Amino acid sequence: MSLDSIKTPGLLLDILRVRRNAERMAEKAKQNGVRLRPHVKTHKCIEVAKIQTAGHNGAITVSTLAEARAFARNGFSDITYAVPIERGKFADAIKILQSGIKLNLLTDDAETVRALDEAAGKVGVKFDVFLKVDCGTHRVGVEPNTAEAIEIPRLISGAKNLHFAGILTHAGHSYDVRTKEDILTVARHERDVMVGLADRLRSQSIEVPTVSVGSTPTMSLIDDLDGIDEIRPGNYIFYDNFQATLGSCSFEDTALTVLTAVIHKDATRRRLVIDAGAIALSKDRGPVGLDAACGYGRVLDLEGNETGMSVTSLSQEHGEIEAGDADIFARLRVGDRLRILANHSCLTAAQHSHYHILENGSIVDKWEIFSGW
Ligand SMILES: Cc1ncc(COP(=O)(O)O)c(C=O)c1O
Repeated sequence: MSLDSIKTPGLLLDILRVRRNAERMAEKAKQNGVRLRPHVKTHKCIEVAKIQTAGHNGAITVSTLAEARAFARNGFSDITYAVPIERGKFADAIKILQSGIKLNLLTDDAETVRALDEAAGKVGVKFDVFLKVDCGTHRVGVEPNTAEAIEIPRLISGAKNLHFAGILTHAGHSYDVRTKEDILTVARHERDVMVGLADRLRSQSIEVPTVSVGSTPTMSLIDDLDGIDEIRPGNYIFYDNFQATLGSCSFEDTALTVLTAVIHKDATRRRLVIDAGAIALSKDRGPVGLDAACGYGRVLDLEGNETGMSVTSLSQEHGEIEAGDADIFARLRVGDRLRILANHSCLTAAQHSHYHILENGSIVDKWEIFSGW
């Protein structure tokens, strides 16, 4: 099937790049002696997760219980729900556990530990629970050098209906730096903070089965994972404009683009309008600190080559492109198609219902995306 037969806006997934990105990370995990538990929130797609987990034990990380249910229905049986659990989600989590799935939860809150223990006890199930640790992002998690970083694991370990799974962190602040060296510094710090906390817990006779880390920038560049058991990168499977600008990958590694059509030409302002607006691309500002002209994504031609343009502004279903180059502007007509390399592939993918699988210039398949909550 040719690209012309696809409705716009639509997602194109370069499958050869997906396979290459998957192989590289799988190999890195093996070489470093760690388990790979990829975060599937990037794609929310069964077929992509199968590629990612090939050669590993099939464990995955999810960001919603809807993802957990969809992947559980499709053969994935070891799932970490990597957002702190709260009591409003206990019933759904119990249902998933009761369906025979190993659903691991995480928390940074002592009261939630007690409530979860009680809820699990009432229905006779046992959850594996991680302590969420803040290694510098300051989003969620306990500070590693505090008393509660010891007390909460002790509480989980002593709870009748919970099993202490270990400690887990995500170095989200690796997105805020400017150079590869800075990413590496964050990566080593993420590792060292976690190894240090695991040592402290073990010195207090608290068993730490798993030390889990991982973001795409840190896992793409880390050189030594000594003391770590598991990594959970997600975005690496597609990468995007942000990651390539940051230096986690090259532009040739980026696998996801949005196919779009030109719907208007404004000759007075030499401006093109496309049918990919905020609900097709997301409004993520991307690597604006590194590239002030990044806009809302890079504009590529149908073969995936750079045009030198970016999406300069977005409304719900309209995207605007300032076409600096007079020749390109003259050449493009209403109805012509372009591809957009979005700033943040996870947010872009989450707004669509399926991927069109692109292999050697042709569409060879269509894969479903499981969104929702
Ligand atoms: C807890 C957790 N683990 C892993 C990841 C994956 O990180 P990345 O998207 O950088 O690959 C995320 C992403 O937000 C996360 O929140």
